Formats: sequence, structure tokens, C-alpha cells
Amino acid sequence: MLSLLYREWDKNMINQINIKENDIVTLSIIDQDYDGLGIAKLDDYLIFVKGAIVGEKVTAKIDKISKSFAFAHALTCLKKSDNRIDPKCKYFPKCGGCSLLHMKYPFTVHVKKNSFIVTMKKIAGLDVKDLIDEVIMMDYDKTKLDYDIKGFRNKIQMPVSSSNGKLIVGYYEKETHNVIDIDYCFSQSDNVNDLIKYIKNICRDLKISSYDEVTKKGIIRHILIRENYLNELMVVLIINEELKKDLIEILKNKIINKYHNVISIIMNYNYKKNNVILGDDYKVIFGKDEIIDCILNNKYKLSHKSFFQVNRTQTNKLYSKVIEYLKDGEEDINNINVIDGYCGVGSISLSIAKHVKHVYGIEVVKEAIDDAIVNAKINDIHNVSFYCDKVEDKINDLIDKDIDCVVIDPPRKGVERSVIDSIINNRIKKVIYVSCNPATLARDLGVLKEFYDVKKISLVDMFCYSSGIETVCCLVKKRKQV
Ligand SMILES: C[S@@+](CC[C@H](N)C(=O)[O-])C[C@H]1O[C@@H](n2cnc3c(N)ncnc32)[C@H](O)[C@@H]1O
Repeated sequence: MLSLLYREWDKNMINQINIKENDIVTLSIIDQDYDGLGIAKLDDYLIFVKGAIVGEKVTAKIDKISKSFAFAHALTCLKKSDNRIDPKCKYFPKCGGCSLLHMKYPFTVHVKKNSFIVTMKKIAGLDVKDLIDEVIMMDYDKTKLDYDIKGFRNKIQMPVSSSNGKLIVGYYEKETHNVIDIDYCFSQSDNVNDLIKYIKNICRDLKISSYDEVTKKGIIRHILIRENYLNELMVVLIINEELKKDLIEILKNKIINKYHNVISIIMNYNYKKNNVILGDDYKVIFGKDEIIDCILNNKYKLSHKSFFQVNRTQTNKLYSKVIEYLKDGEEDINNINVIDGYCGVGSISLSIAKHVKHVYGIEVVKEAIDDAIVNAKINDIHNVSFYCDKVEDKINDLIDKDIDCVVIDPPRKGVERSVIDSIINNRIKKVIYVSCNPATLARDLGVLKEFYDVKKISLVDMFCYSSGIETVCCLVKKRKQV
């Protein structure tokens, strides 16, 4: 996190300057943090300014002060950046979903790229500026003269809460667990916005309560919706206690009578008192626990519990990049064996299978690996094997199988150290690391860099207008291993 990195450099600066909370100051914004905050300096003391863009001059109110830095929010813009736009969302900046909505889209990607470069330098000690091969943005629509971003998410999970005794559905206010009641979100399709509003109103009419995170009482915790490439919808209601049978029937009938493209409705029971969204148990109340999506012409059966990338357009480009990096520098990859660690429903495995000899996929979630096995059949792909296990527990068994390349696409917390050790000790020739978290990617590259050269990195803008960025990194074993 860029702001954290800055914070470390400037310990105790507060002793040298004279500002306090609620002061109004004029600031020149000299840099941008990864999460959209403008960065200003008073003497050498850093101030992170909400709503300000690099190059701007603003008046700002100091919100919070500490020894090493302060937070402020912009009040007026005295000099405006060319990259500023009017946010296309009435919930901005209150909603924690998107933090970069006040910037032009290409600039948001530029901010994320810069932040990525700083993170790699600071955490991994790697200078990656010249290694960035491509920054892959959303498509530009010439007819609309704009980027084709609206409705880019194919999965949403919205928390449910209540306000003044009324059930509300939305997203959390930034850095809190206060839900903002949201009627429309540009990242969701009109279909999904409409359906969420409808379910909210049914729940209100049927007096179904929302779950309260403090008292741990109430029924509905989250609503999850997946939308596939045919605009079919899967609805998952995550509940804390069983709903009466007649209420479930009414709810189901109302949804399917109005929305003919809803093909699956599931009740997922989550009795845990923590922040994990899905519970272990579930009941299908309409259709099957199944929706089919499509990436690079392969079809994927997805269960409600399986991970699948949230942005279909960009996933096509992400997986194409993985294939490109697999081929990069190789004469022929028909004869190579690949491990796809953290394989989910097998989407990377099946995308690369037709180019290589064999792919071994490893995934810990049983439903996802069951889907992966079905997906290989659906797509008539036979040179793949899937294992339900932790990568750290399985990789050593598989690495004996003459493995040339390991693809890893771990969750946000990155790769277990033992997995990295296994890759290094077995002198795997090529590693393709797909990551949604630059900080843990940098931590892991910090270890791998001694044995591997980072050849190329691509950034894929998967989570538009938020601070997140997806990366694909191609690593090749150094000729002489230390
Ligand atoms: C970022 S997703 C990537 C999935 C897949 N590659 C894709 O593109 O859809 C990470 C996956 O790793 C799985 N996972 C998390 N920890 C794991 C572990 N220790 N071993 C194996 N799989 C794990 C998750 O269930 C999830 O499916």
C-alpha cells in the first residue's frame, strides 16, 4: 500500500509543523496514492487528501492527525486537474466500492500502474518500470466515445442491513461496516440493479429481517447474484436462520414470475459470527446450483461457491496473456507439462490445455474442483487432471511429473512459502504468477527473484474505478542457480 510506504518514511514530522485537526489549509497535490488520495506536503510532513488529484491546488480540512502523517478532505479546488471528471455515481465518495470515480478512466489505470511500480520497488526491491509489457484497459467504444465499463461485473455480493427499521441492500461505507442503501450501481448490469431492488422490496413486504452484525440476530446477511454471458441469473440469499417454508415459496415465485432469466435460486446458510460471506450448507430452491459462463470459447459450469473472475471481458484478455507468456521464448510448448495452482473451476487449465501436453490443476474448494472436472468434459478436453487439495500439500507429489511450468493464481494472501520453496528446489523453468494483490505478489517475488528473472509483467484492469489491479508476471529460471 503506497500510503503505508509513504507513512514509514516520515516518522515524527508532526513535531516540526503546526497544524491540528479541523484546520483549513491550502495544499498543492504532488502525488497520488493507490486508493485515489492526493498527497501533499507541508514542509516534509505528508497529508493524504480525499478527493484531490495530483497537479491540483485545493483548500482542505484536516480530519485526522498523527505523528507521521495526516488525513484531510478537499473543500474547494483552486486549480483543477485535466484528469478530473464529475463522478458518475451519486453514492461517491461515501460508498467504499469505487475510490477513483472522480478521475478519467485512463488516469485511474495510470494511478494503479504507478502504485504497482512503487510497491514492487519498496517490497520486492524490484525495478519493474521497463518490464511492464502491457497495461490492459477496458475496451473503448468508438460509437459511445467512451470506455465500455458499465455493467462490467458478472458477480456481485451486497450486504443487507436495516436503517430506521427498513431493510436496505447496498455496499459498505468506506472503511466501515455501515451499509449504504444503493438503488443503482454502474458496475452492475441494469438486469442486476433491477432484480436487487425487487428482492429488497419483496423482503420489506414480507417483513423478512436483515442480519445485524452487532446483535448477531436477524435473517438475511447478503444477496449474491451471478450473471452469465447469456444474461441468465443465479440468485443466492445468504441467511442466518431458516426462513419459513411459505415465505421461501412466495419469494421464489415472485422472483421467477417476474424475471424469466433467473435460472437458479439458492439459500445459503451462514451461521458463523464472522465476516466470511458464504456458509457451508445450502439448499437449492429453484433450478440447480449451476450457471454456465464462457471464456475464450470454453464453457464453464459454476456453482454458487466457486471462484470465478468478476470481469468477463478482462478475463478473456488475462488468460490470453497467460497463453502468450507460456509461449514466450519457447519454440514449441506442445510437449510441456504445466501445474495450474489455485485452479478454481479449471478456467486457466482448460484455456491453456490445447497448447500443451498436460495440465495438473489443484484447488482446495470441493465444489470448484467438481466443476473443473465437469468443465473438462463439457469442453471435450482430456489432457487435464484435477486434484482437490491445498497447493502447499499437493505440489510436491505433482512436481515429479516432469513439470516445465507452474502457473499460480492464489487468493489475496499470496502463495505459501513452502510452495515457493518447492518451485525453486525443483528448478521449474518458468513460473507464471497471476495476482490480484500487488503487495503479496511483491513479497513472493522478493523471494523468487534470487532464482528467477522477471521477464515481463502485464497489468489488467479487472476492477474498474477501484484501487485493485490484476497482474500477470512471467518469471524464467536464471541460468545459474545460486
Ligand atoms: C484468485 S482464485 C483463482 C482461480 C482461477 N485460477 C481463476 O482464474 O478463476 C484463487 C483460488 O484459489 C483457491 N485456494 C485458496 N487457497 C488455496 C490453497 N491453499 N490451495 C489450493 N487452492 C486454494 C480458492 O478457492 C480460489 O478458487
